[in-house]
Order: sequence, then structure tokens, then C-alpha cells
Amino acid sequence: MTTWLADAIRRIERDFQRSSDTHLIALDLPALPGVQLYLKDESTHPTGSLKHRLARSLFLYGLCNGWIREGTTIVEASSGSTAVSEAYFARLLGLPFIAVMPRGTSAAKVAQIAFYGGQSHFVDDPATVYVEAERLARERGGHYMDQFTYAERATDWRGNNNIAESIFQQMRAEPHPVPRWIVTGAGTGGTSATIGRYIRYQGHATQLCVVDPEHSVFHDYFHAPANPGITGTRGSCIEGIGRPRVEPSFVPGVIDRMIRVPDAASIAAMRVLEQRTGRRWGASTGTDFYGALLLACEMAGRGEQGAIVTLACDPGERYLDTYYSDDWLRAQGHNVAPWLACLEAACASGRWATP
Ligand SMILES: Cc1ncc(COP(=O)(O)O)c(C=O)c1O
Repeated sequence: MTTWLADAIRRIERDFQRSSDTHLIALDLPALPGVQLYLKDESTHPTGSLKHRLARSLFLYGLCNGWIREGTTIVEASSGSTAVSEAYFARLLGLPFIAVMPRGTSAAKVAQIAFYGGQSHFVDDPATVYVEAERLARERGGHYMDQFTYAERATDWRGNNNIAESIFQQMRAEPHPVPRWIVTGAGTGGTSATIGRYIRYQGHATQLCVVDPEHSVFHDYFHAPANPGITGTRGSCIEGIGRPRVEPSFVPGVIDRMIRVPDAASIAAMRVLEQRTGRRWGASTGTDFYGALLLACEMAGRGEQGAIVTLACDPGERYLDTYYSDDWLRAQGHNVAPWLACLEAACASGRWATP
């Protein structure tokens, strides 16, 4: 083991020791008195998203496998958030970093990657991020991090303060400490794999629901698992979740239910959540909230009591000129009004009526 490698691992561990856990926010929904909703606020990581956990794990995995050495250029395919977090860790280790992303990636994320000294490389077709990242890594003698393959195995799913262990620890003193549902989106599929495996390993009665945006193939694959080669014709409109191919890190066997969420509904849910929390979140957090609220209304309809935990992946400040812009919504053809009405009515009455 080289001195550089030992020092690199120690640097990441020191960074971890200086970090604190993320908050679990209890949402106030008086019309649903028997169901308590919680939001695991992953926006407070040093690099502003859930992907901070993944980037730390991927770097440690690459270092311990001997794939990352002194001077190795790190290349990654990303819809932006993972690249921001990886740029941070690359700088921590003094390594060059290149992010390969779809051209429409939010300008705020591109600026953050540059802030951490990383380069951004854009592709027009989101389905080509993988081959382009592989090519760049090969040409520069670098390492293609490949979050879509390694997310599920780089994360320590049995514990070690992963997101699932943190959720169950923070729920310990709540009226319903074991949630009835945990709701998450899937980008790589790593988060759902970690949570689903942890639930089984611990023997919890919690069920895992994965919400999926309209142009993603995960939902179709979940219902037709004999067809892993299924591909979509376009990228997801909800940055961070939903993919045009079935990612190797997506593990359907740990998922109890999937819900397909229209893009306009995700954006409407993001705005309703802003009213409820006084804070802005990204659209993938809206997708999560949509699923959690739908499940809460179903539980209330059956007279069930319990808790539902979902995730807030990143802050809305990254998306002021897209999801939070009415001009952008109009230009993209998203009609959020019927979904705003649906979600506001669900919050006010505890009853769900799809428009
Ligand atoms: C709200 C939300 N939940 C979950 C995820 C899960 O990501 P992954 O499947 O890559 O772990 C994301 C990714 O950005 C997200 O935005």
C-alpha cells in the first residue's frame, strides 16, 4: 500500500468524522391524523445532496480496489448531483475530475462542479453518457467511476451509518418507530437497494415503495423482469431519478411496490411541499412526496395508522430557472394546475382523487 493511498483513505475518513447526520423532518398534515409523514433531508450534506453518501462510498471502493491512484483522472456519467459530490472528493484527494452529463443539466450544478475544480463535458443524447464517459477515461488513462454499476455494491447495506440505518435510528422515539413505508426514487437504484436490503436484514415490517418518473424504464422492468434490455427513447425530465435503461444497480427484488409519477405531478408536488415546509426542494423530492402522500391517503382510507418516511434529495435553489420558472414550465408543456389541485386537496382532506 502506497503512502498516497493510505493518506487518501484517511482524508476521506477525516472528512466523514467532521460531518454530521442529516435531519428527519416531521411533516404536519392535520387531515391525516393517523399517518405521520417524515422527510429525510439529504440536502444538508456538504455538497447539497444525497449523492454525497454515494460519492464517498465510490471513492473508497475505487481506492481500496486499487482503481484510483495518485494522479488518476476520475470520469463519471451523471445527471449532475453525483458529479458535484464526486468533484468535491476529487479535490479533497487532489485528483482531476471530468463529469459527462446531458446538455440540459442545471446550470447551478455545472457551476458547483467548476467550483470544486471539475470539468463538465456535455452530450446531446442522455443515453450516451456511459459510452462517452468510458471513452474519455480510456483516452486519458483515467478511471470511469460508473455509479450506475457500482452504487449498489459500494454502499455498505448492512449498516455503517448508511441512510437506512440512520432513518431507523432517528425514528426510535416516534409514535410509530418502524415505518409502514419508505418511499424513494431510483437513479442508479443504489439507495433503494441499500434501504430494501437493510429492511430485510433487520427483519423490519417496513415496505419499500419506489416512485418512477414517466419516461423511466424502471417501472416497466419491475412489472416485466424478464426484459432487462428495455430502453427508453428519451432522458428523464426529473433530474436525478428515472433512467432510459435498466441500470445494473437497480435491484427489483427488494422493492414491494412501484408508482409511476407524471412529470407535471412531480413538479406540482415539489411546489406543494414548499408551501408545507417553507423550503424549496428539487423535483425528485416532489416525486417522492407524491408517492408518500398517495400511500398516506390509501392508509387513511383503510383506517390504518403508521409512519411513512421519504427522502428530500436536494434543494430547489439548483432549479430556479427550470422547475421553479413558470416560463420554463410553459415552454416544456408541463401543465401542473390539475396536479396542484389534486395534491392540495389530498393534504386538506386526506383523500386522493387523480385528475
Ligand atoms: C429524491 C431522490 N430519491 C432517491 C434518489 C436515489 O438515487 P439513487 O438511485 O442513485 O441512489 C434520488 C437521486 O437523485 C433522488 O433525487
